[in-house]
Amino acid sequence: MKRSEHLKKLSWEHHDALKFARRINKGMSNGTDPEQIARYVVFIVDTLLQPHFDLEEQSLIGRLDTAQAQDIAVTQVIEDHQKFSQLVAAIREPEDDLKSRLESVVDLLKQHVKWEEQRFFPYCEKTLSPQDLEQISRELDQGHIPESADWDEPFWN
Ligand SMILES: [Fe+2]
Ligand SMILES: [Fe+2]
Repeated sequence: MKRSEHLKKLSWEHHDALKFARRINKGMSNGTDPEQIARYVVFIVDTLLQPHFDLEEQSLIGRLDTAQAQDIAVTQVIEDHQKFSQLVAAIREPEDDLKSRLESVVDLLKQHVKWEEQRFFPYCEKTLSPQDLEQISRELDQGHIPESADWDEPFWN
Protein backbone atom coordinates (compact mmCIF):
# COMPACT_ATOMS: atom_id res chain seq x y z
CA MET A 1 0.00 0.00 0.00
CA LYS A 2 1.31 3.43 -0.94
CA ARG A 3 1.78 5.58 2.17
CA SER A 4 0.96 9.23 1.98
CA GLU A 5 4.04 11.39 2.46
CA HIS A 6 1.93 14.06 4.15
CA LEU A 7 0.31 11.69 6.60
CA LYS A 8 3.30 9.46 7.30
CA LYS A 9 3.69 10.58 10.94
CA LEU A 10 0.20 9.27 11.64
CA SER A 11 1.11 6.00 9.91
CA TRP A 12 4.17 5.69 12.14
CA GLU A 13 1.90 6.07 15.15
CA HIS A 14 -0.40 3.41 13.71
CA HIS A 15 2.58 1.11 13.58
CA ASP A 16 3.11 1.80 17.32
CA ALA A 17 -0.59 1.26 18.04
CA LEU A 18 -0.39 -2.22 16.48
CA LYS A 19 2.64 -2.96 18.62
CA PHE A 20 0.63 -2.01 21.74
CA ALA A 21 -2.16 -4.30 20.59
CA ARG A 22 0.33 -7.18 20.26
CA ARG A 23 1.67 -6.46 23.76
CA ILE A 24 -1.82 -6.54 25.26
CA ASN A 25 -2.48 -9.85 23.49
CA LYS A 26 0.79 -11.24 24.75
CA GLY A 27 -0.07 -10.25 28.32
CA MET A 28 -3.45 -11.92 28.05
CA SER A 29 -1.97 -15.15 26.78
CA ASN A 30 0.91 -15.31 29.29
CA GLY A 31 -1.30 -15.02 32.34
CA THR A 32 -0.57 -11.38 33.27
CA ASP A 33 -3.07 -9.92 35.74
CA PRO A 34 -5.66 -8.04 33.62
CA GLU A 35 -5.43 -5.09 36.02
CA GLN A 36 -1.74 -4.77 35.26
CA ILE A 37 -2.49 -4.76 31.52
CA ALA A 38 -5.25 -2.22 32.09
CA ARG A 39 -2.79 0.17 33.75
CA TYR A 40 -0.60 -0.04 30.67
CA VAL A 41 -3.57 0.58 28.36
CA VAL A 42 -4.58 3.71 30.30
CA PHE A 43 -1.00 4.98 30.18
CA ILE A 44 -0.73 4.43 26.41
CA VAL A 45 -4.08 6.05 25.77
CA ASP A 46 -3.25 9.13 27.83
CA THR A 47 0.26 9.63 26.48
CA LEU A 48 -0.07 8.56 22.84
CA LEU A 49 -3.42 7.44 21.51
CA GLN A 50 -5.67 10.27 22.68
CA PRO A 51 -3.27 12.94 21.33
CA HIS A 52 -3.21 10.97 18.04
CA PHE A 53 -7.02 10.90 17.82
CA ASP A 54 -7.19 14.63 18.65
CA LEU A 55 -4.70 15.41 15.90
CA GLU A 56 -6.72 13.42 13.35
CA GLU A 57 -9.92 15.16 14.36
CA GLN A 58 -8.45 18.67 14.42
CA SER A 59 -5.96 18.64 11.56
CA LEU A 60 -7.72 16.34 9.11
CA ILE A 61 -11.44 16.16 9.87
CA GLY A 62 -11.51 19.81 10.95
CA ARG A 63 -10.53 20.81 7.39
CA LEU A 64 -13.32 18.91 5.66
CA ASP A 65 -16.54 20.74 4.88
CA THR A 66 -19.87 19.51 6.25
CA ALA A 67 -20.70 17.41 3.20
CA GLN A 68 -17.22 15.87 2.98
CA ALA A 69 -17.34 14.99 6.69
CA GLN A 70 -20.52 12.94 6.09
CA ASP A 71 -18.65 10.34 4.05
CA ILE A 72 -18.51 6.90 5.65
CA ALA A 73 -14.69 7.04 5.42
CA VAL A 74 -14.89 9.86 7.99
CA THR A 75 -17.97 9.06 10.09
CA GLN A 76 -16.56 5.60 10.84
CA VAL A 77 -13.41 7.23 12.25
CA ILE A 78 -15.43 9.46 14.60
CA GLU A 79 -17.55 6.51 15.66
CA ASP A 80 -14.46 4.40 16.40
CA HIS A 81 -12.86 7.21 18.42
CA GLN A 82 -16.02 7.51 20.52
CA LYS A 83 -16.27 3.76 20.97
CA PHE A 84 -12.65 3.71 22.05
CA SER A 85 -13.19 6.49 24.61
CA GLN A 86 -16.14 4.65 26.13
CA LEU A 87 -14.17 1.44 26.29
CA VAL A 88 -11.22 3.11 27.99
CA ALA A 89 -13.51 4.91 30.45
CA ALA A 90 -14.86 1.47 31.41
CA ILE A 91 -11.32 0.12 31.77
CA ARG A 92 -10.45 2.94 34.16
CA GLU A 93 -13.16 1.62 36.50
CA PRO A 94 -12.18 -2.04 36.53
CA GLU A 95 -15.04 -4.46 36.95
CA ASP A 96 -15.32 -8.17 36.37
CA ASP A 97 -15.35 -8.16 32.56
CA LEU A 98 -11.99 -6.40 32.30
CA LYS A 99 -10.61 -9.23 30.18
CA SER A 100 -13.27 -8.93 27.50
CA ARG A 101 -12.81 -5.16 27.47
CA LEU A 102 -9.09 -5.59 26.89
CA GLU A 103 -9.88 -7.94 24.02
CA SER A 104 -12.20 -5.29 22.60
CA VAL A 105 -9.42 -2.70 22.80
CA VAL A 106 -7.14 -4.96 20.74
CA ASP A 107 -9.86 -5.68 18.15
CA LEU A 108 -10.91 -2.06 17.83
CA LEU A 109 -7.34 -0.79 17.52
CA LYS A 110 -6.52 -3.24 14.74
CA GLN A 111 -9.74 -2.64 12.87
CA HIS A 112 -9.47 1.15 13.27
CA VAL A 113 -5.88 1.39 12.01
CA LYS A 114 -6.81 -0.72 8.99
CA TRP A 115 -9.81 1.49 8.22
CA GLU A 116 -7.81 4.68 8.45
CA GLU A 117 -4.97 3.41 6.28
CA GLN A 118 -7.29 1.92 3.65
CA ARG A 119 -10.21 4.34 3.63
CA PHE A 120 -9.75 7.49 5.70
CA PHE A 121 -6.25 8.59 4.66
CA PRO A 122 -6.84 7.99 0.93
CA TYR A 123 -10.12 9.92 1.23
CA CYS A 124 -8.41 12.88 2.92
CA GLU A 125 -5.67 12.89 0.30
CA LYS A 126 -8.07 13.05 -2.60
CA THR A 127 -10.44 15.51 -0.92
CA LEU A 128 -8.14 18.07 0.70
CA SER A 129 -6.19 20.64 -1.31
CA PRO A 130 -2.40 20.37 -1.73
CA GLN A 131 -2.07 23.51 0.43
CA ASP A 132 -4.13 21.94 3.20
CA LEU A 133 -2.06 18.76 3.01
CA GLU A 134 1.17 20.77 3.31
CA GLN A 135 -0.17 22.57 6.36
CA ILE A 136 -1.39 19.27 7.86
CA SER A 137 2.03 17.76 7.36
CA ARG A 138 3.58 20.62 9.38
CA GLU A 139 0.99 20.19 12.15
CA LEU A 140 1.70 16.47 12.29
CA ASP A 141 5.43 17.16 12.58
CA GLN A 142 4.71 19.33 15.61
CA GLY A 143 2.15 17.01 17.17
CA HIS A 144 3.98 13.74 16.54
CA ILE A 145 4.88 11.84 19.69
CA PRO A 146 7.73 9.39 19.23
CA GLU A 147 7.15 6.11 20.97
CA SER A 148 9.70 6.31 23.75
CA ALA A 149 7.21 5.28 26.38
CA ASP A 150 9.04 3.60 29.24
CA TRP A 151 7.00 1.16 31.22
CA ASP A 152 8.51 -0.51 34.25
CA GLU A 153 6.37 -3.66 34.09
CA PRO A 154 7.07 -5.06 30.58
CA PHE A 155 4.66 -7.97 30.97
CA TRP A 156 4.94 -8.81 27.25
CA ASN A 157 8.55 -10.05 27.52
FE1 LIG B 1 -8.07 7.40 14.55
FE1 LIG C 1 -5.15 6.99 13.51
